[in-house]
Amino acid sequence: MPRSALLNVMVQAATKAGRSLARDFGEVQNLQVSMKGPGDYVSQADRKAEEIIYNELSKARPGYSFLMEESGTVKGSDDQHRWIIDPLDGTTNFLHGIPIFAVSIALERQGVLVAGLIYNPAMDELYTAERGGGAFLNDRRLRVAARRNLNDAVIGTGIPHLGRGDHGRYLVEQRNVMGEVSGIRRMGAAALDLAYVAAGRLDGFWEDALHPWDMAAGMLIIREAGGFVTDKAGGQDIFDTGGIVAGNEAIHAALLKTLKKPIKAAG
Ligand code: IPD
Ligand code: CA
Ligand code: CA
Repeated sequence: MPRSALLNVMVQAATKAGRSLARDFGEVQNLQVSMKGPGDYVSQADRKAEEIIYNELSKARPGYSFLMEESGTVKGSDDQHRWIIDPLDGTTNFLHGIPIFAVSIALERQGVLVAGLIYNPAMDELYTAERGGGAFLNDRRLRVAARRNLNDAVIGTGIPHLGRGDHGRYLVEQRNVMGEVSGIRRMGAAALDLAYVAAGRLDGFWEDALHPWDMAAGMLIIREAGGFVTDKAGGQDIFDTGGIVAGNEAIHAALLKTLKKPIKAAG
């Protein structure tokens, strides 16, 4: 299916940034053994990828505004359009030589998500969607998984860590979810987690304390693959709350319910 001019612009920017990340990722694996470690090197890789994306998109769509993880907000002359960009989602994986990371680009028009792209250069997987145009993985049409019973489901999540998130609350949620599902997965790249829900690889996903650039592209790709995405109260304050729950209609509803339960008695 031929891509639109808009999606072509996004793919061009993402794949150029992806080539840069793939080169740097190869180097990171060599730096694992260096005393200083690859920390600074990864930060440079992150910023370089964002600069590539910013330059490509600014050239193709002059005037659009930007919300980027590394450089923040850039207000353009056209305030109807806003790019939402995470140039490297899965930074810790990248730092540790784990090939689960992605470029994430979304476009908002008057506050509505109209295009989304998530690209994992390590696996050459390109997830795309335009509002009303369906969701695709390398041009193959995507549908969310058909499983309707939480007991058969594999659910993705993000686990808080040192200095991040509400550990107590998360442990209550995980305790309740683990007792009702076939498996829980923590991949380390929320944008890819959401893409995997759209591809039916994960039946559902939940996480707290995410940013718009982690979620925007995946939200549209899931919806265009027939899935449901809300905040943890079941509403649409996803960007403001940073909490997200996703899945097909049945799994999304069941996961929302389970996440609201108080802790089960030990057993
Ligand atoms: C992180 C990843 C991770 C999620 C974190 C995010 P980053 O994004 O998406 O899976 O659990 O909350 O910050 O920092 O690697 O772009
Ligand atoms: Ca991220
Ligand atoms: Ca990032």
